[in-house]
Amino acid sequence: MNQEYDPLASVQAAGPPGTISLVYGLPDPATFPADDLRRAVDQVLRERPYLALQYGPEQGYGPLIDYLRAKLAREEGLVVERPYIMITGGSAQTLDHICSIFTRPGDLVLVEAPTYHESLMLLRDHGLRLLQVPMDEDGLLVEALAERLEKLAYRGERARMLYLIPNFQNPSGTTLALDRRREVLSLAERYDLLIVEDDVYRDLLYEGQVPPSFFALDSRRRVLRIGSFSKILAPGLRMGWLLAPAGMIERLIGSGYRCMGGGANPLVANMLAVYCQQGLLEPHIQHLRSVYSERRDAMLAALEAHMPSGVSWTRPKGGVFVWLTLPSPRRATEVVQQARQANLMVLGGDPFFAEVPTGQHLRLAFSYVTPPKIREGIEILGRILS
Ligand SMILES: Cc1ncc(COP(=O)(O)O)c(C=O)c1O
Repeated sequence: MNQEYDPLASVQAAGPPGTISLVYGLPDPATFPADDLRRAVDQVLRERPYLALQYGPEQGYGPLIDYLRAKLAREEGLVVERPYIMITGGSAQTLDHICSIFTRPGDLVLVEAPTYHESLMLLRDHGLRLLQVPMDEDGLLVEALAERLEKLAYRGERARMLYLIPNFQNPSGTTLALDRRREVLSLAERYDLLIVEDDVYRDLLYEGQVPPSFFALDSRRRVLRIGSFSKILAPGLRMGWLLAPAGMIERLIGSGYRCMGGGANPLVANMLAVYCQQGLLEPHIQHLRSVYSERRDAMLAALEAHMPSGVSWTRPKGGVFVWLTLPSPRRATEVVQQARQANLMVLGGDPFFAEVPTGQHLRLAFSYVTPPKIREGIEILGRILS
């Protein structure tokens, strides 16, 4: 994340003193279970330093893999055999690795409009050509995807991959409807596309149910599903996992990157296996759900109370973001400036578009700031927009 260039910035994500920042979707550090993690790492270093401090197996630490398989089976009824999963260094590292192995510079990649701006940076780093597909409140518009694929085929071109964030999307907060997931899969089948689903927000659910993942709908052929401990525990762990067809996992595990450096972060993986096996992750996730759902409710209620007519916003059922649409002719860049002068920091939506942005959106994050500050911030925004 960009703010990490300043060593103090991640501590200041709430904004400089006297300001309110709704910019960053960071976990609230007050939720980090530092004592439990310290006890877990202590146990690891006492009992098996020879394992945890050594290069690890390329697929990742086995007991952590087995914990994740059990979690997927219990919560989603998803049976993931060992060859279909690997431990990774988090979502960003996984996406980078996927691009290194399964794409070549110049390949076409389809993305949602909007999508996570730092994923766009990463995809561009690989020389990929990005095409955007519009969304509505239920996620990606399947007809628009079909149209783009058809036009490409007509020109004799083909997209290599579709990258999407199906649950509580960054930045829009929307969740892709199940019938659309099925239709997207059948298009992927027809046009021979890889689907990369970045599923880092799945567990931050506040109401309803999360639809089955693309991987649950097709685990054998073309879906790579990325998971991460960043949002459900702590991003500093740099630890996640990947579910993918066995042949693709084999290819990633056998890559130079993994063979040279071994499996992802063995010390952290060992520590997390202990933490998770003690049954500590599930209650922690429950705690996060209660903290963040209260913040989401505070933000939605404040928007209802303070936004003038013409402004619209999404109502996420999970995750950490609300996506606000300004009425024409208001421009997001001007609103961001005006907000800053009123000591409120919000993020303009333009960087979240791979192609032409609309200029009319703001992303509002509610995970880092307490409900009173959220209410105060939205009230300021309401005054600016009125
Ligand atoms: C959609 C999405 N993917 C990936 C990441 C980064 O995940 P990780 O910390 O696991 O690399 C973020 C962080 O904000 C995100 O919003």
